[in-house]
Amino acid sequence: MEVRVDVREGFEKKLRKEPTCVFSDEIKIYSKMKVLVATEKPFAKVAVDGIREVVEKNGYTLALLEKYTDVNELYAAVADADALIVRSDKVTKEVIDHAKNLKIVVRAGAGFDNLDLEACTARGIVAMNTPGQNSNAVAELVMGMLVYAVRNFYNGKSGSELMGKKLGILAFGNVGRNVARIAKGFGMEVFAYDAFLTADQINASGMATAVANQQALFEQCDIVSLHIPATAETKQSINYDLVGKMPKGGILVNSARKEVIDEAGLCKLMAERTDLKYITDIMPDADADFKAFEGRYFATPKKMGAQTEEANINAGIAAAEQIADFFKTGNKKFQVNK
Ligand code: 3PG
Repeated sequence: MEVRVDVREGFEKKLRKEPTCVFSDEIKIYSKMKVLVATEKPFAKVAVDGIREVVEKNGYTLALLEKYTDVNELYAAVADADALIVRSDKVTKEVIDHAKNLKIVVRAGAGFDNLDLEACTARGIVAMNTPGQNSNAVAELVMGMLVYAVRNFYNGKSGSELMGKKLGILAFGNVGRNVARIAKGFGMEVFAYDAFLTADQINASGMATAVANQQALFEQCDIVSLHIPATAETKQSINYDLVGKMPKGGILVNSARKEVIDEAGLCKLMAERTDLKYITDIMPDADADFKAFEGRYFATPKKMGAQTEEANINAGIAAAEQIADFFKTGNKKFQVNK
């Protein structure tokens, strides 16, 4: 598990150690490379400064497109970009078609469902993510949202505590493991299921007890936290039947993707089961319908999980370094369109 505690301190130390102007022959070859950072939801300034340091240290030029509201701005900005760094920004076939020089796109974050991998592969563009770099930030938000939920959204009424409650983690990757680590500190009993891990692998982490399947997690746990990616298999998989297995007073927490929820099914269930709560960091399409469940539903107005300076620095700088490494050595370690 990768948990970076004081990232900015590490980053500043690193900058002090490494000279910012290096002009080797090798770097000169790439001096015309343009790295575009296109973020509808911008990184913290300190992270952009760090990305710029890495980009310029390697002799490339940084271009920045932030808070764009029209996809045509993105089309124009990618036109002469050799490399692209994005967050949840959609890199569609149209974007790729406008990016005639593009060689690499890095999703600064974990989930890469926003990248059209087929379109990238068809053009020979390498697509990467930066796994683990923002996972602590997301995990902290999960726990913060949980406290908010069990304390009745701070409405003054008596709530309950997390200590002793059973927490089920669906998908035990970087975020799930960080949630487990923090939940242990709260004194919770932590269980996990991951379709790609054996029970032994989960148990060996020492942070969670494996359960046999997804259904068992919902049946046994007071709270279920979702950490599955949005794929053809997982889309709408969190549905009426599955969430309906939760015990009385169950809480579903979603910091993954809205697409994994069968929103109509969950709405129907919450109308029938007035004990259930749904807390999400990704506003559902049916937000207006969920709002009917006052005191049992909360959605952040904008996805906030990875929105910390530390996570922005981690993911943004990792993206810039992966690009530089790819151009210099051909390293494709984090490629996702193999
Ligand atoms: C991720 O997949 O890394 C998270 O969902 C964060 O997404 P964001 O960078 O758009 O906030």
